[in-house]
Amino acid sequence: MVIKALALALLCLVLACGSASERSEKEQVGQKAFEKYCVSCHGADGKKALAGASDLSLSTLSRQEADNILRQGQGNMPAFGSFLDDSTLIELVSYLQELKTHD
Ligand code: HEC
Repeated sequence: MVIKALALALLCLVLACGSASERSEKEQVGQKAFEKYCVSCHGADGKKALAGASDLSLSTLSRQEADNILRQGQGNMPAFGSFLDDSTLIELVSYLQELKTHD
C-alpha cells in the first residue's frame, strides 16, 4: 500500500516535471529558431549586421512590422513565411523583443 502511494506520488512528480519542461521548451522555440535561421546574418545579440542586416537590438519596429518583414523578406533578407510555420514565426517575433536594448 505504501509502495503504491509512493509510486503514485513519483508518477505525479514525473508528470508535473514533464509538463513544466514542455512549457519552457515552448518559450525557447523563438530563441532556437533565431539561432538556427537568423544568427548567421544578425548575430546572437542582433548586432552582427552581415550583408547590411539591421541591428536588431536597435530595431524600432512594431511586432506587426517585424512579422511582415519575417514573412515577406526585405532587401537582402530572405522571406521566411513559406518556410517556417505560424507558431514559430510568432515565437520569433517575441524573441526579437528580447533582443531590443531599449523600449
Ligand atoms: C541572409 C541574411 C539574413 C538572414 C538569414 C536574416 N536576416 Fe533579417 N535582415 C537582413 C537584412 C540584410 C536586413 C535589412 C533589410 C533591409 O531593410 O534592406 C534585415 C532586416 C531584418 C529586420 C528589420 C529590422 C528593422 O528594424 O528594420 C528584422 C526584424 C529581421 N531582419 C529579423 C530576422 C529574423 C528574425 C531572421 C531569422 C528568421 C532573419 N532576420 C534572418 C538579413 C538577414
